[in-house]
Amino acid sequence: MRVDILTLFPEMFTSPFSSSIIRRARERGLVTIEVHDLRDWATGPHRQADDYGFGGGAGMVMKADVIIPALQAVRGDDGHVVYLSPQGEVLTQPLVARLARRPHLVLLCGHYQGIDERCSRFIDQEISLGDFVLTGGEIPAMAVTDAVVRLIPGVLGSEASHAGESFSRGLLEHPLYTRPRVVAGMEVPPVLLSGDHQAIRRWRLRLSLLRTLLKRPDLLLQRSYDAEERQVLEELLFGPPGGGR
Ligand SMILES: C[S@@+](CC[C@H](N)C(=O)[O-])C[C@H]1O[C@@H](n2cnc3c(N)ncnc32)[C@H](O)[C@@H]1O
Repeated sequence: MRVDILTLFPEMFTSPFSSSIIRRARERGLVTIEVHDLRDWATGPHRQADDYGFGGGAGMVMKADVIIPALQAVRGDDGHVVYLSPQGEVLTQPLVARLARRPHLVLLCGHYQGIDERCSRFIDQEISLGDFVLTGGEIPAMAVTDAVVRLIPGVLGSEASHAGESFSRGLLEHPLYTRPRVVAGMEVPPVLLSGDHQAIRRWRLRLSLLRTLLKRPDLLLQRSYDAEERQVLEELLFGPPGGGR
């Protein structure tokens, strides 16, 4: 996969993309990430990339005659152009999964008041990080890149690493524990030490469903259930079968 990022602040990306899993994915050639300075497409002695908005009002607007040639230069034949915008589709794990299937993403970061509307013809999709306003699209572009890159096959240690995690199947992930076995008087749930994989799998499903019920009940209404999930959910809500209901 290839990710091209267009920004007025390329230096913001240095650290997040030079650490941890993203750095390893780049080193192993699983993803190519290029951060471009939009000012490279600005003309004139001051390489001005933003200007006052027509019609008045406070704040600067990013110039279409800078952004359009930049998009044309980097999108190639297969680039899917995403403008990070509070007005876009809110980022979710299913959307991340769809983006991860594309060979080439071009992420356009706005700043100041935003971008000249005439860029929209060159944009395939707008994506928002949520219903709040940030100073720029750089942090959303980092979030999209991070979430997408970790879904590229081979990036995480094992393919199973994200199989059960939050949102991958419409549930929140079960609780996690590591050594030591006792911390501040609190013990690891015994089932996790039992070696009984079937019992562990069932416990994890139960805790996933319980957590989702308590923290994000809206997610439960958006999915369907297989027979085992239905049974575990019924036990959570009504007690074990034959328990006097
Ligand atoms: C201050 S915002 C502009 C907001 C714009 N004037 C509006 O009201 O819709 C500057 C830039 O930050 C980015 N941005 C801000 N909030 C965002 C969000 N929730 N999701 C994605 N990008 C965001 C966009 O690229 C935007 O062009």
